[in-house]
Amino acid sequence: MPRTRTQVVIVGAGPAGLLLAQLLLREGIDAIILERRSADYVLGRIRAGVLEQGTVDVLEQAGLAARLHREGLIHEGVEIGFRGQRFRIPLRQLTGKSVTVYGQTEITRDLMEARAAAGASSVYEAKDVTLHDWEGSAPRVTYRQGGVLHEIECDFVAGCDGYHGVCRASVPTDRCRTYEREYPFGWLGVLADVPPPWNELIYANSEHGFALASLRSPTRVRCYIQCDVGERVENWSDARFWEEFQRRIGHGLTETLASAASIEKSIAPLRSFVIEPLRFGRLFLAGDAAHIVPPTGAKGLNLAVSDVYYLHQSLREYYRGRSERALDQYSVRCLRRIWKAERFSWWMTRQLHRFPGDAFARRMQDTELEYLFESRAAQASMAENYVGLPLDG
Ligand code: FAD
Ligand code: DHB
Repeated sequence: MPRTRTQVVIVGAGPAGLLLAQLLLREGIDAIILERRSADYVLGRIRAGVLEQGTVDVLEQAGLAARLHREGLIHEGVEIGFRGQRFRIPLRQLTGKSVTVYGQTEITRDLMEARAAAGASSVYEAKDVTLHDWEGSAPRVTYRQGGVLHEIECDFVAGCDGYHGVCRASVPTDRCRTYEREYPFGWLGVLADVPPPWNELIYANSEHGFALASLRSPTRVRCYIQCDVGERVENWSDARFWEEFQRRIGHGLTETLASAASIEKSIAPLRSFVIEPLRFGRLFLAGDAAHIVPPTGAKGLNLAVSDVYYLHQSLREYYRGRSERALDQYSVRCLRRIWKAERFSWWMTRQLHRFPGDAFARRMQDTELEYLFESRAAQASMAENYVGLPLDG
């Protein structure tokens, strides 16, 4: 069996795994990435679009922000649609900060290119990744590629393998606590090459359900509608999607979309999830492997970035001084931020979606949105959370 050694094995080449590898590389810490899928498959997944300033700062620090600064779109406000009206939350005016619209696919591409340019390799299509002895001081990770079993000895394992990965699943249930909420709906998303008829994102609470008007560039829109949890993509022709989207976002804005052909269409379930702690011996969880937020608050990718930022700092301290102090604090430091993002994403989800059969919740939603539109303090609170809380240290 081929054997190698590295300092950190990173499981998963999503944004968390790729960024951690890049941050470690800049500190001279060796890492190997193991990814179950092919690079093309990873690049084909259309997900996040909104980056907090803190995320942009970390990408800059990792030497990855050149294209982001050229092509990313700075947004100084977002809009809330309600009862046929649109209300603007002026993010910059309220917080001094803005957000950047730049697709997760583009970040992933930038990260993959930086890794290739540095001559650092990632193992794609690594099957049966299995963790061994992560509770002791000499963990090992085995995987299969092309029918051959490989083994890597390492100091640490970083579980960046998303919600359905192997790392969190390797932790016995009596060693952790999990918190979870499933929502009775999903998001049906469409990507289409048509100039966005809106300048800023619109999060709409309509009587027909939630809709989000977003974008990727001056020539590409990304749109979502709330759908039933068991809904199938095949049931949604482009024409049906645009008709429903228009009903929710409002006429007078969406007419140019009616004939736009989708280039991607997918359904994502909505869930809140947190595992505590995030460290188990020599195994550290980061990103969606450790927590899921419903996408309404645009926090998932941003949290993945803050987790791996803290993890790289902790590993740097370990390798510089052989001190585990920062590694010991990793969970607590991340979880403080994670729970705040969980709260905000849950709040946004509750205020903007239709929850079937709950009349009281509906009246509360009306009242909460009216309050938001009347109160500068409520707007400032929403804006502060949307643009993102600062990354400490
Ligand atoms: P992933 O991106 O899930 O990467 C994990 C990787 O691990 C994958 O490549 C997977 O193939 C690999 N893997 C899994 N199992 C194994 C295994 N056994 N062995 C090896 N590899 C494995 N976030 C925001 O911040 N802003 C937004 O605007 C936003 N919008 C979103 C919209 C939608 C519709 C969705 C679905 C999500 C959105 N998010 C948003 C969330 C964001 O996309 C995720 O939080 C982000 O992808 C998390 O990155 P990650 O690297 O932790 O996990
Ligand atoms: C996008 C996704 C989100 O979840 C969100 O809150 C805002 C924008 C997007 O894909 O563009």
